[in-house]
Amino acid sequence: MTAQRFYITTAIDYPNSVPHMGHAYEKVVADFYARVARLRGIETHFLIGLDEHGQKIQEAADKAGMGPQQFVDDKAAVFRALYEKLGISHDDFIRTSEPRHHQFARDLYERVRDAGDIYKDFYEGEYCISCERFYTISELVDGKCPIHERPTTIIKEESYFFRLGKYRDQVRAHIEAHPEFIHPDERRREILSRLQEEVRDLSISRSTFDWGIPLPDDPAHVLYVWFDALANYYSALLRPRDLTEKFWPADCHVIGKDILWFHTMIWPAILLSAGYELPRQVYVHGFILDKDGRKMAKHLGNVVDPMQVIEDYSVDVLRYYFLRSFSSGKDGKFALADLEERYNSELGNDLGNLILRVAKLVQTRLGGRVRVGDNPEFRERLAPEKTVAAFLAHVDDREHNRALEVVWDYVRAVNTYINDRAPWRLADGEELTSVLAAGVEALRVIAHLTSSAMPEIARSMAATLGFALGPLDALAAPCECEVRPSQPLFPRRESSAPAAVAAAPAAGDGDPFAKLEIRVGHIVEARPHPDADQLFVLSVDLGEGEPRSICAGLRAHLKAEDLSGRAVAVLANLKPAVLRGVPSEGMVLATDRRDGAVVPVDPGAAPIGELITVEGIETQPKKKLSKSHFEKVPLAIEKGVVVYRGRPLRTTVGSLTCDAEDGAPVR
Ligand code: MSP
Repeated sequence: MTAQRFYITTAIDYPNSVPHMGHAYEKVVADFYARVARLRGIETHFLIGLDEHGQKIQEAADKAGMGPQQFVDDKAAVFRALYEKLGISHDDFIRTSEPRHHQFARDLYERVRDAGDIYKDFYEGEYCISCERFYTISELVDGKCPIHERPTTIIKEESYFFRLGKYRDQVRAHIEAHPEFIHPDERRREILSRLQEEVRDLSISRSTFDWGIPLPDDPAHVLYVWFDALANYYSALLRPRDLTEKFWPADCHVIGKDILWFHTMIWPAILLSAGYELPRQVYVHGFILDKDGRKMAKHLGNVVDPMQVIEDYSVDVLRYYFLRSFSSGKDGKFALADLEERYNSELGNDLGNLILRVAKLVQTRLGGRVRVGDNPEFRERLAPEKTVAAFLAHVDDREHNRALEVVWDYVRAVNTYINDRAPWRLADGEELTSVLAAGVEALRVIAHLTSSAMPEIARSMAATLGFALGPLDALAAPCECEVRPSQPLFPRRESSAPAAVAAAPAAGDGDPFAKLEIRVGHIVEARPHPDADQLFVLSVDLGEGEPRSICAGLRAHLKAEDLSGRAVAVLANLKPAVLRGVPSEGMVLATDRRDGAVVPVDPGAAPIGELITVEGIETQPKKKLSKSHFEKVPLAIEKGVVVYRGRPLRTTVGSLTCDAEDGAPVR
């Protein structure tokens, strides 16, 4: 994207009922793109709003015993409240009942009429009030609307028509000449194939109800709700301040797949007729389905309320889940168990722990101050250019989930870097400072790249680590960071998970920790390995009758006599190996103590052979566990105890302890 301005819109919602997950999803997706554009320093205008006219709204208002204006005013407050909660950063909110919109919709109708594209006729057809559109018999499924699966009604009335068919070839030519006009390509092909067929003219007025915009030349008719609604993208730019010069044509209309035809055939045809430029892109997202792949619907009892998820987790967790978990353009299942899993692993474990570890070390070891921006260690080991470029390339391709994947690859790389450099093991001095500065600077990059998906989290990161959030251009500027104490940004959730989570598959299922068999052992004897300087050969009693032979890399800091008689935690189902000629049947769990020594973690007075567990996970050990599986299970120190994703490892007498820094990995 090279443009220096960016106008992005979403569909305007029907406020006939309360907003749902689909509405929330679409606004978050559009909000992400708007925020990234601003981050790049591009002048951005982001429009959302409500589609307040039509028969459906009138009927809902009648049912509620209210006038339609009062009805939509009430509903508008509910939609606005959700969008505020969701952190949607729109610049304008259009409601089609506003005078500014009426005025332009009438003008648009007149321009189309003056172009000779409107005539009066009779219309008879199958109408779905929920869709606010006619269907041909062949489009119906079992005689019902294919979207709402409800019977349609035959409507015959006098109506004004728009010569839609006349524009078929022109619109098709435009789509063919501009491959980027409809995204993803799957939707583009769908429309192109439909444009092979005849396109019928469109009835654009109704006279059997009056909740709408009266035609300027025949007020007995109101403008068809779709003609009216599509006009919002332009009407909102005209008033209060005329922004059309700067922002028309729109760069991106974000819509769901059910309203593709309206945006890629009808809207372009209206614009062509009225003499306006066509929007640059229609980006089509998929549908949010329930966890079993069905549409969410009240009568199915499978609706998850976005407000509830925000309350249970936080707004940024929902935003992240939408953007990361649902592939761009595809339908996806909304499953709280899935959200919970991402919360624990990608947010809590990958990102949250990284922030806590780095912040804590900067505070305890550097007195809370660190300078970033001119650190060779960072440039050498964590250079962010490729990450930023890949992130932006995916954004330009409208592949937001991929863009976030790139950021998380970087988060993981930074975690690996910190583990490798093990700052908790370094003595005070230049090396320690530069490793921690590199960590803070990497987090500055991460905060910027996550700020469009998780604006609040990014702000908290900036506040904790003491840097400013600004445009991407300013990212490399040196600054002095003052690191403040931080609360975990993704606190471990107690098992008071919402009902839907509790109903998810049993917690242990699929949890990588379940495959680990960790037992309490006592070291009977420790001797140096005859052939490897780093290793001890331990003889460890696991209560199995015969002690096991286990090689352990503990020789750098401990003596054999420090180990004999000591209680340890042993990964007992690790695939046996032979290390330089000595068999090793398990692994002693160890970590980096505060003083830098690598030492075993301590199970205290727990009985020999006891299984060490994590609450909520049923251990189902694998027979011969690979080292690589174990490495994927993040065990670390938190407040002096060994935890798995924030949950302590337990014996019957307590937890596993070690005097190590928070975040020190246990291996
Ligand atoms: N009012 C019209 C749009 C007019 S645009 C000029 C409309 N409103 S709607 O309230 O029914 O839908 C608003 C948006 O939400 C549409 O883009 C629609 O595709 C989207 N979604 C509605 N349900 C959805 C899901 N279950 N999942 C994702 N988005 C879906 O259509």
